[in-house]
Amino acid sequence: MTVQLEIDVFTLFPEVFEPFLSSSMLGIARRKGLVVIRVHDLREWGKGKRRQVDDTPYGGGAGMVIMPDVVVSAVEDVVKDEQVKVVFLAPSGVLFTQQKAFDFARSRRLALVCGHYEAIDERASLILNAEEVSIGDYVTSGGEAPAMVVIDAVVRLVPGVLGNVASLLSESFSEGLLEHPHYTRPYEFRGLKVPDVLLSGDHKKIAEWRRKESLRRTKERRYELYERYGCSEEDGL
Ligand SMILES: C[S@@+](CC[C@H](N)C(=O)[O-])C[C@H]1O[C@@H](n2cnc3c(N)ncnc32)[C@H](O)[C@@H]1O
Repeated sequence: MTVQLEIDVFTLFPEVFEPFLSSSMLGIARRKGLVVIRVHDLREWGKGKRRQVDDTPYGGGAGMVIMPDVVVSAVEDVVKDEQVKVVFLAPSGVLFTQQKAFDFARSRRLALVCGHYEAIDERASLILNAEEVSIGDYVTSGGEAPAMVVIDAVVRLVPGVLGNVASLLSESFSEGLLEHPHYTRPYEFRGLKVPDVLLSGDHKKIAEWRRKESLRRTKERRYELYERYGCSEEDGL
């Protein structure tokens, strides 16, 4: 099969990626040759005998800052002049959404740069013309877990990776709404029964119920998405 997407990850902790990248859907996508993922140790571009990658912040303050030349040399050495979308994982970046995952999946080549400590020197992202993305309004200790989130969300959208493409179209966020609830056997569990409509065999009614549940959940849990979506009269919510 032809490679659909290449991803280069730059990190100070390369060892955390391999088990994740070899498991489940990602492992299959890589073994099928649809996706190639390479993980690079930023320390290889570190300075001096101790391979130093960080230094104290100008202006003072807590924590260390990763030096810009270390990151820029690493990315430039690996991706050279190729067309590549460079992404920095940063809590101060723009929110990573399903729409962004679709955009990244179409990019053919991605470079993901994981920060650590306090930050990466601002100039690295400017020079590399990087897009800074955040996986949510909280702070993790490094960019490794956020990079894994991005890789997982993007790779499952690459053509050929998931067997059931229909599931991509109906899942949460694809349409701007959260997904409806799901049920399987047993029919009754600890006094809770599966909604009867799902056993009716009436596909129109099932679709209507699912849409209503989807709207109800979105309204309750993510009002900002619900408002943006804009209900029609017949939705009745
Ligand atoms: C401890 S954090 C640095 C937090 C930074 N000083 C701030 O307040 O914005 C270290 C690294 O973890 C990653 N990181 C933490 N939270 C993240 C998030 N929500 N999204 C993406 N990356 C995140 C980034 O790569 C960041 O450089």
